[in-house]
Amino acid sequence: YKLKLIHGPNLNMLGVRQPEIYGHDTLSDIEQLVVSEAKKKGFAADCFQSNSEGAIIDAIQSCYQACDGIILNAGAYTHYSYAIRDAISSVMVPCVEVHLSDIHAREPFRSVSVLEPVCVKQICGLGKQGYVLAVEELIKNHVR
Ligand code: DQA
Repeated sequence: YKLKLIHGPNLNMLGVRQPEIYGHDTLSDIEQLVVSEAKKKGFAADCFQSNSEGAIIDAIQSCYQACDGIILNAGAYTHYSYAIRDAISSVMVPCVEVHLSDIHAREPFRSVSVLEPVCVKQICGLGKQGYVLAVEELIKNHVR
């Protein structure tokens, strides 16, 4: 059983980037957290980050028949990438959308996620704890 954790643009800057909004944890801290939470439940977790839309789409496509669930923080692509949305629809792998911040309580453009309709759940505003919930949600409710 395998999960894929995918991070989009600027999330490689976590820890440095606007810590008052995104917290002090680095991307590697979050990746280690997801790997250890998954492991507790007998799952492996592969981690990936890219600043490029195409590379994120390739990572999602690589999950086809190869992963049991996807945890995706697509960064700003969340708000306008129909191509990432189509990639999620294409692979037929359950995807949980995670955001560190509460996208519904910030600038209006952030409150719309074009990915939400094709994800099994949206988790936001809980910081890194949101990723722990995403692992639980996938394993409890979506992985057969
Ligand atoms: C984010 C929220 C997005 O609006 C923003 O562009 C990000 C991070 C979050 O984790 O809170 O890059 O996805």
